[in-house]
Amino acid sequence: MAAIRHFLDLHRLTTETLRDILDLAGRLKAAHAEGKAADLFAGKTLVMIFEKPSTRTRVSFQVAMQQLGGQVVVMSEGESQLGRGETIADTARVLSRYADAIMIRTDDPQKLDDLEAHATVPVINGLTDFSHPCQVMADVMTFEEHRGPIEGRVVAWSGDGNNVANSWIHAAGRFGFTLRLACPKGLRPEDAVMNWAEGEGADVIITDTAEEAITGADLVVADTWVSMGVSMGDEEADARRKLLQPFRVDGDLMAKAKPDALFMHCLPAHRGEEVTDEVMDGPHSVVWDEAENRLHAQKGILAWCLG
Ligand code: CP
Ligand code: NVA
Repeated sequence: MAAIRHFLDLHRLTTETLRDILDLAGRLKAAHAEGKAADLFAGKTLVMIFEKPSTRTRVSFQVAMQQLGGQVVVMSEGESQLGRGETIADTARVLSRYADAIMIRTDDPQKLDDLEAHATVPVINGLTDFSHPCQVMADVMTFEEHRGPIEGRVVAWSGDGNNVANSWIHAAGRFGFTLRLACPKGLRPEDAVMNWAEGEGADVIITDTAEEAITGADLVVADTWVSMGVSMGDEEADARRKLLQPFRVDGDLMAKAKPDALFMHCLPAHRGEEVTDEVMDGPHSVVWDEAENRLHAQKGILAWCLG
């Protein structure tokens, strides 16, 4: 029997597979634009488990399945038996009898691994506290649509070394671009992720200042300063904001990137905090194309997972 095609993390898949998925995504996007009816997912059902809020992930996965003739069932932790202690393993066994794929958005990445270990259908990572691979697939797709191959380009991340940053590190290893992460001390990506990058020979560095990372970059990326997985009191949150203030992407910082640099943000944005309106709504910003490409990138992911 062929191995189940799980989409768990970018560093757990080969460059060839990730390129195949992006190729599928591009073809499905073009087919949709041409109005070609596709029933690729006819008779297929995706179950989505949400243990955290979502706008883009929920709607884009649902629309992706529906546009290609498939069905979706959405489960939230609070409204399911997961909230009353049924294990992920047992949930995986049961859902595999109903569905053709399972997507999960959760906190602990161990839950993703438990789901993978016990599901007999593909499992897709819709964000954990560790990573957000669907997002970065859409981001790479968006960069390449606007600027051509990302290989050899310079991507700058400014802010918290969070789950999305981790997936960018994995992407640097797989897609062959330079990644400069400007993160304050204490909010840098974990050593394990940086060690993975080093072991892969990936060109990933951490800088002390946003200027160092952004100067001459082809793409500047920002994300929220307080991710969903971070819980803290008001005082701690204030201290964190103060620490991150020099990493806010404003017009002056953006001007240090290449003149034709792009700006991305996975959204939701906290305007005026990690990014100013000037940048979000400015000429470098491709945030709406990026959000749209969640739909197309995930069609590619689903098509690959469902074989
Ligand atoms: N970027 C992203 O994953 O958005 P949602 O949290 O709205 O799904
Ligand atoms: N880093 C953010 C991403 C949201 C899509 C979070 O985890 O909240």
